[in-house]
Amino acid sequence: MRVTLRNIHKSFGPVEVVKGLDLEVEDGEFLVLLGASGSGKTTALRMVAGLESVTSGRVLIGDRDVTEMLPKYRDVAMVFQSYALYPHMTVFANIAYPLTVRKRPRAEIEAAVKDVAKQVQLEALLDRYPRQLSGGQRQRVALARAMIRRPAAFLMDEPLSNLDAKLRGYMRAELKHMQHELGITTIYVTHDQIEAMTLAHRVALLEKGVLQQLDTPANIYNAPANLFVAGFIGSPPMNFLDGALTGGTFSCAAGTFGTGSRASSAAAVAGVRPEDCRVTEAGAGKIVGDIYTTELMGDHTLVTCRVGGATVTVKADKTFSRPDGEAVGVDFAETAVHLFDKACGDRIGTPVR
Ligand SMILES: Nc1ncnc2c1ncn2[C@@H]1O[C@H](COP(=O)(O)OP(=O)(O)OP(=O)(O)O)[C@@H](O)[C@H]1O
Ligand SMILES: [Mg+2]
Repeated sequence: MRVTLRNIHKSFGPVEVVKGLDLEVEDGEFLVLLGASGSGKTTALRMVAGLESVTSGRVLIGDRDVTEMLPKYRDVAMVFQSYALYPHMTVFANIAYPLTVRKRPRAEIEAAVKDVAKQVQLEALLDRYPRQLSGGQRQRVALARAMIRRPAAFLMDEPLSNLDAKLRGYMRAELKHMQHELGITTIYVTHDQIEAMTLAHRVALLEKGVLQQLDTPANIYNAPANLFVAGFIGSPPMNFLDGALTGGTFSCAAGTFGTGSRASSAAAVAGVRPEDCRVTEAGAGKIVGDIYTTELMGDHTLVTCRVGGATVTVKADKTFSRPDGEAVGVDFAETAVHLFDKACGDRIGTPVR
């Protein structure tokens, strides 16, 4: 079902932690709420669940205004950052709980628990109690409990954060598959940009309680709306150069180059992603500098260059080998340049692509 947040504000005492959040999550959509620690993600999700009241604004699930409704009537299944399992119940009983309280027949419950326990690899642990499980296993019980029925929406708060890297990768794929299969609207909170990029139909990026951009992972990556988004998404992060933009020509201490735009701004920032940059011979390339350091990462090499008071990271081939201190150029395509207004941080125009 569609989930709508209309101009949601939330304050704890004098501190406003969610500031005018507008979101429309389509029926069946997987929306990821992404942001750094303290940006207001959990608070926003808890307001959808009804575990936190709104200071102002409306929450709708489908066409129902649920703003004043108790959590149990909202028909959402939440997976918490802390797993919130019932300690006195076995894994089986924990997973079965949403069906038990609905008084479903025993045979149906057993079949459903078996089915979902298999999906999250818990079949062998159904007789245990939560205290006898590892953190990752507890988290999977919490996931299974949410998955066992078909709520109007899944609300998930960092559900994979306690898993080791390998299991997280596996569960990420399982979760994505399951969500596509069930087609249940999902709002998923994480601070991990990889999770956001891989899971989401659309990503909502929050910073200090303010929505910065709401778009597909590809659009967020390829056309970040402002400097914050540009710097947040991508690893290693986008390179930024301060300079002036005159009729689309950008000049900074390291060089002057065309940008495919026609805009002007006395204080602009040009951004280029490391994978869009190439180290060239000195004198060639759009900007000049020297090699500061190189780091072999296995399948590629990160080359950090000093360019006119700034540094630029280049993602180079794994065979890249040049001595530190060597004078080089750095080249990139005009279409790879992202332009921002330095004062307000907003993206300038849309480069020709
Ligand atoms: N009950 C509360 N009382 C007062 N302040 C709170 C309360 N709950 C959250 N906050 C504050 O609201 C802000 C947003 O918190 P929230 O838990 O939503 O962040 P988050 O984005 O989920 O962060 P994290 O990634 O660390 O979980 C934080 O500054 C936090 O300290
Ligand atoms: Mg949180």
